[in-house]
Formats: sequence, C-alpha cells, structure tokens
Amino acid sequence: MECPKSWPEPVVPVQSLTESGATLVPARYVKPPSERPSLDTLDQRRGISCIPVIDLAGLTRGPAERAAAERLISDACRDWGFFQVENHGVSLDLVERMRADWREFFDQPTEAKTAYANSPATYEGYGSRLGVDKGAILDWGDYFFLVFTPQTLRNRDKWPAFPATCRKTTEEYGREVVRLCGALMEALSTSLGLGTGALQRAFGGDDGVGGNLRVNFYPRCPQSDLTLGLSSHSDPGGITILLADERVKGLQVRKDGNWVTVQPRPGNFIVNIGDQLQLLSNGVYKSVEHRVVVNPVEERISFAFFYNPRGDLKLGPLPELVMPDRPALYQPMTFDEYRKYIRLNGPRGKLQLESIATNI
Ligand code: OGA
Ligand code: NI
Repeated sequence: MECPKSWPEPVVPVQSLTESGATLVPARYVKPPSERPSLDTLDQRRGISCIPVIDLAGLTRGPAERAAAERLISDACRDWGFFQVENHGVSLDLVERMRADWREFFDQPTEAKTAYANSPATYEGYGSRLGVDKGAILDWGDYFFLVFTPQTLRNRDKWPAFPATCRKTTEEYGREVVRLCGALMEALSTSLGLGTGALQRAFGGDDGVGGNLRVNFYPRCPQSDLTLGLSSHSDPGGITILLADERVKGLQVRKDGNWVTVQPRPGNFIVNIGDQLQLLSNGVYKSVEHRVVVNPVEERISFAFFYNPRGDLKLGPLPELVMPDRPALYQPMTFDEYRKYIRLNGPRGKLQLESIATNI
C-alpha cells in the first residue's frame, strides 16, 4: 500500500487544545489502561535514569582511551540501546540558538504554523499525527519534520521562514549533528569488530545517508495520566541524536519490562540505536522501545535527529556478523519499504522489526 496524500481526519494541533483551556482530554487521546503511564513512572522520585553516560573525548585520544570509549558504547548498545554523550563537539551556543528559534516558531498563533501543515506523502512540515489509521487513538504532541540530507531531497522552502534565523540555525545544527553521527558510526563499526567505515558504507556512504529532524512539541496536558506524548515505539532508522529538555523530563526507555525515566544532563545528547542498526548488526545491538509522557504544568520541546541509511538499498545482517551459531535473524529490506510501515500504522512498539525476523 502506498502512503495516502492526505490524513483520514481533520488534524487538530494539540497545542491549540491546550491553549483553548480544555480541562479534559478528548476521548481520541485517551489510551487504553495498559498503555497509560503508570503511577510508578509518573512519580518523579522513582525510576530515574541510569542510562550510561559516555565521554566522547575518549574517541579522539590515544588508542587505549579510544578502545575504552568504544567498549562503553558497545555495552550500552547491547544492554540499553540508549546512552548519553558528553564532549560531543556540538557547540552549546548553537544548541541554545536552536532551542530559542524553535520555541519562537511554536509560540506563534496556530494559523502561522498550519501554513506548513504536512501530509503523509512526505511528512515534511507541521503535523500532529504519525499514522494514517482512521479512528486511531492519537498522541498528545505536535511536531515539525524536515529533511536535512541528502541534498537531493532537501527542500528549504518547507522549513520555517519565521523566526528569520530558523533556517540558518537549523542548517548549522544539522551539519554539526551529522558530523557527530559520522564519529559515532565509526565507533559503532569498530566496536562491532568491523572496519571503521563499514557501517557508513552499508548506509550508502556520505552522499547516500539520510538525515531528518523532528522537532517535537508536547503541550501541557490537563490529564497527563490518561495519555502519552508519543506512544511506545522503536526508531526505524540508524541512530537518533536526541536533544531533550534538561528541565522537563518526559522520555522513558523500556528496560527489563519496566519504564525508566531519563534525566538528561545539561549539555548532553541522548543517542539511541534504531531498527536498521539492530538489523545490520544481526541483533547484537538493540533498538529499544521508548515513549514520552506529558506533564500537567510544563510543556516540553525535544529535537530528534534521525540518521538513516539510504532509502533504496536492500539491507540485511552484515555477512561478518552472521555465523554458524548465529544465523541471519532478519530478512533484507530497503529502508524506504521499512519506513512505510510506521508511516501507515503509527508508532507500534517493535512490531515492524519482528515482522521481518526469520523464524528460526
Ligand atoms: C522520537 C522520540 C523522544 C522525545 O521523536 O522518536 O522518541 O523525548 N522522541 O521527544
Ligand atoms: Ni523515538
């Protein structure tokens, strides 16, 4: 099935619901009891994050320090699928400008934002839903999605023209984050026992990789115990670099069946492994389910940069990671085909990856 050109129902920005002063969450945002944030995880004193924190300065020092940093990355990718990075090389001034510009974008009146309303054909622009299932229960969040790279797919006219600095700031930010992703790809590659450039080549090389940014805006929610800002999902692509809000928590990661609330440290990024790396690594590295809970008093903005393989390459487990005692766990598929599933169905845990697992 192809992605339809329009949404099945009129889209209502969640921010406009909050601004209208509603005190009840409309029925189409109310999750079934099993999916609601449990009281446990809503309690700010419990379940606080211990996802590993890794100092990336080690990657640019001598061989022993590099090996130590790679080992930490490897352990984090196996155990958590998530880690925080410090000394990542992205300028903090740029991070602050990014936050300021995008806050200004979302602070505009609804009509200024809906001028960029997106469609499920490419998702580029301002939107409030991920799947096209008619009657689906929706998430309590709005977003702006844009294509950063490859150049052939980038259309800066679809990026916000207001505030005036937004396009330039986003361009600079994307460039620095892509550089960080390149360094992480090398470290991930060697930590899997592959040559430094192996993963990047598997992704289609420097000119082939895809980079998309989704700026998530989670408005205040009057009944935050009934809904989610983003339902449980794993990221479909390669790696995700998340710039979260240090002040307002919201991200939860699944660990041994529990939801663990992540506490981002100031200045750090959160990195997570997507489905394509689980697939290429033949299941050695894990793309882990996560979700976002919302908050009755604070809104929250996060920036998710998705670093993805080129869309038209058939990807499967890398031959070096397929062994007699570890046969190929997944069938090959292109990322374009793979992503269509999530775009049609919305976030659904890890169902998509499971659907291409071989039955062994
Ligand atoms: C995502 C995501 C987490 C967050 O955009 O895929 O998981 O904290 N975001 O907004
Ligand atoms: Ni995600």
